[in-house]
Amino acid sequence: MTSIVEIRNLKKQYAPTAGQKEGQLAVKGIDLMIEKGEIFSLLGPNGAGKTTTISMMSGLLPPTAGDVLIGGHSIVAEPMAVKKMIGVVPQEIALYPQLSARQNLEFFGKMYGLGGGELAKRCDEVLDFIGLKDRQKERVDSYSGGMKRRVNIGVGLLHKPALVFMDEPTVGIDPQSRRNILDAVKQLNQQGMTVLYTTHYMEEAEELSNRVAIIDHGEIIAEGKQGDLIQKVGEKDAILVKVGEDGQKAQQAVKEAHGVDGVTFSDGVLRILAGRGRQALPNVIKALSEAGVVIQSVEVKEPNLEAVFLHLTGRALRD
Ligand SMILES: Nc1ncnc2c1ncn2[C@@H]1O[C@H](COP(=O)(O)OP(=O)(O)OP(=O)(O)O)[C@@H](O)[C@H]1O
Ligand SMILES: [Mg+2]
Repeated sequence: MTSIVEIRNLKKQYAPTAGQKEGQLAVKGIDLMIEKGEIFSLLGPNGAGKTTTISMMSGLLPPTAGDVLIGGHSIVAEPMAVKKMIGVVPQEIALYPQLSARQNLEFFGKMYGLGGGELAKRCDEVLDFIGLKDRQKERVDSYSGGMKRRVNIGVGLLHKPALVFMDEPTVGIDPQSRRNILDAVKQLNQQGMTVLYTTHYMEEAEELSNRVAIIDHGEIIAEGKQGDLIQKVGEKDAILVKVGEDGQKAQQAVKEAHGVDGVTFSDGVLRILAGRGRQALPNVIKALSEAGVVIQSVEVKEPNLEAVFLHLTGRALRD
């Protein structure tokens, strides 16, 4: 496997603000490796250090210590070589509101060194990709939040970068725009682009990426394939069975079922813990039927990245 990004002991301490003796240590010496061709998610709550990391990786903010190699080039020593390779979609929308989508793309395209027929062609392609061809001539300040987000993404793609950084591109938009953006990320990846995607939505990291790093208080607290992370924390599956009033009887019936590790009852719902929920499920249902318990609904919940975060920090991801 070839790495396209190597983050080495990357650190950022901001300058002290008024009243602070020492500046905020926002990124505390992180190491990460991103493989060519993958979608890698950096998952973490507000203030974890995601944007600070992305800003250093894209040359907007000098690191306090450490380095990042992108395609073998140092962001500190060879920033120009790095800039050619990367596209950046910042968290804060950076567009000219009085200009149209197309004018914004043309402006930023020129900054990337594109011009003439090539620029026009790329603008057409990008507008098509972000689904705004029909409305390209309207001013950006007349767009919805989701449309602005899409233009913001388009700007990052104009020069066909090998690697794109997307910093929370779906925050504050409607579900349909969010769906469009997630699908667009997958499509870009299928075309060969490597994507670094930051989010505080566990579901997005789960859907998009194979490998994930969880960042909290400026430190990487877990990193690897999702399945491995979940397995490592040793959380069990939970089978939730709605049984209404029959709690006592139901609990008794299920306790001895094969594959069941524990069972509790509250608010009309049995919560059954099992190492392998799907395998234990038929035994659970059989035991309940035999005891004459009426099952109103059944759900198997497998542990997710939220459980990993909770296990490692004792906090929910969206505190
Ligand atoms: N310019 C700055 N000067 C001082 N401190 C800063 C600055 N920018 C960010 N910070 C602090 O650094 C820490 C990390 O912030 P950062 O914006 O990187 O987090 P984040 O993970 O992107 O959060 P969010 O999900 O809210 O975007 C926070 O404690 C923040 O207050
Ligand atoms: Mg941020």
